[in-house]
Amino acid sequence: MGSEHSISTFVTQSLEEIRFWSRIMKEHAFFLSLGFTADDTKLIQEAKHYIAIFERIEEQASEYNERTDPEVIRNFNIQVYQAAVSIWAYKRKVLGLILHCQINGNNFPLLVDHISREAFYFAKRLKELNEGKIKPLADAIIDENVFFLKIMADHSKFIGHLLDPSERKLVDQARGFSEDFDKLLYQAQDLDHMRPQSETKPLFEQFLDQNRVSVVSLRDFKKTARELIEECKIKSIIHPLLADHVFREASHFLEIIDAFDAHLSAQKA
Ligand SMILES: [Fe+2]
Ligand SMILES: [Fe+2]
Repeated sequence: MGSEHSISTFVTQSLEEIRFWSRIMKEHAFFLSLGFTADDTKLIQEAKHYIAIFERIEEQASEYNERTDPEVIRNFNIQVYQAAVSIWAYKRKVLGLILHCQINGNNFPLLVDHISREAFYFAKRLKELNEGKIKPLADAIIDENVFFLKIMADHSKFIGHLLDPSERKLVDQARGFSEDFDKLLYQAQDLDHMRPQSETKPLFEQFLDQNRVSVVSLRDFKKTARELIEECKIKSIIHPLLADHVFREASHFLEIIDAFDAHLSAQKA
């Protein structure tokens, strides 16, 4: 068993991850349900089943706090892990149906793939927490950035495609973000390929700074888009909740970047 400190970190981190991602998983199921055609009743029912599952998980998480017995949280993590793996399998099944042209609807294949990657990430985080695995900082910095830069690049593409084509200025801006994040993703992969030699503090600091600048501006763009959509000031088929959803995911990535920066600064030069 770890020290007092690591136990409370385990409980707090588990609850933080579960609170953030369960809401995200619930919303994915909701977005999928909106994108099916009316005759795909079975798939819609399955989506509703996942909405209920993750709603219950959210309620359960709200009953726990940092003083909850770590064993209770360990079991909770296993239960949520199973739900995350199950929704992942459902999303992959839907992706297969779309790619084999067995269903129609408005769910882009890239979006379904994207939300399945997020479910996989969530499941993996829960497994790592329960196994007490702490990745070396260098691995964590590169892996998390490669994951989230792709997520941000995808979001930019979804926004660009879901805005009405007549919103030419905004579509252009979304395309600009898409290109920006594709480049940042390539850079992150370059750094990954140059490992372990690329694992230097100055390179990592510059890498995080550069990523932060773009994530901040994408987050602000999403915030503006969310407000414009809520006030019905722009033409799009973006659900207001989707606008908020991608905004929250960008904010989450920024928190991760800041945490890495703090860890790096705490390290001796
Ligand atoms: Fe998402
Ligand atoms: Fe996302």
